Amino acid sequence: MKSIVALNVNGDRQQVAVPEHWTLLETLRYGLGLTGSKQGCDKGDCGACTVLLDGEAVLSCITPVWEAEGRDVTTVEGLAEPGRLNELQAAFAETGGAQCGFCTPGILMSAWGLLLRSPSPSRDEIKEALGGNLCRCTGYTKIYEAVELAATVGPTARRRVPPTLPLSPCSGRRGRGEDEA
Ligand code: FES
Ligand code: FES
Repeated sequence: MKSIVALNVNGDRQQVAVPEHWTLLETLRYGLGLTGSKQGCDKGDCGACTVLLDGEAVLSCITPVWEAEGRDVTTVEGLAEPGRLNELQAAFAETGGAQCGFCTPGILMSAWGLLLRSPSPSRDEIKEALGGNLCRCTGYTKIYEAVELAATVGPTARRRVPPTLPLSPCSGRRGRGEDEA
């Protein structure tokens, strides 16, 4: 049996009919076609499915969709400006913080949630914020450097400074996981 759930996703009001047992991740991926959030472990262990719920990072694979009813959901699709990376995505490209890319959407969202509440985080704060996001490729150092680089943009400028890199498959470091379901 399906029911209608209303969500504010990346600034757009969405109403979608979903089975009552669906998670937020299933709703995003299979109800709304937003496949940027990855279905990794699907049990709360890897962080690949991380999105922001009212600005706080949550694991969407273990969040019942009904918990998101009427709330603001931000996915990785909501980060970039049209045709351009935002500064956090650009920083990942700059430092090599994204390699295979499967973990990248979840890490971006955990990091973005951190920058929203702590514009100049310490290395320890970054490690703590990303502690639930597993990456098998990078060794994490380049990821931490990317978050620190993005933080240098500053809290006031964060939403209006032009990103440093164009959104282009020619960036050379754009991960598979950012493009594929
Ligand atoms: Fe949600 Fe792994 S897919 S934590
Ligand atoms: Fe993190 Fe590959 S870049 S798992």
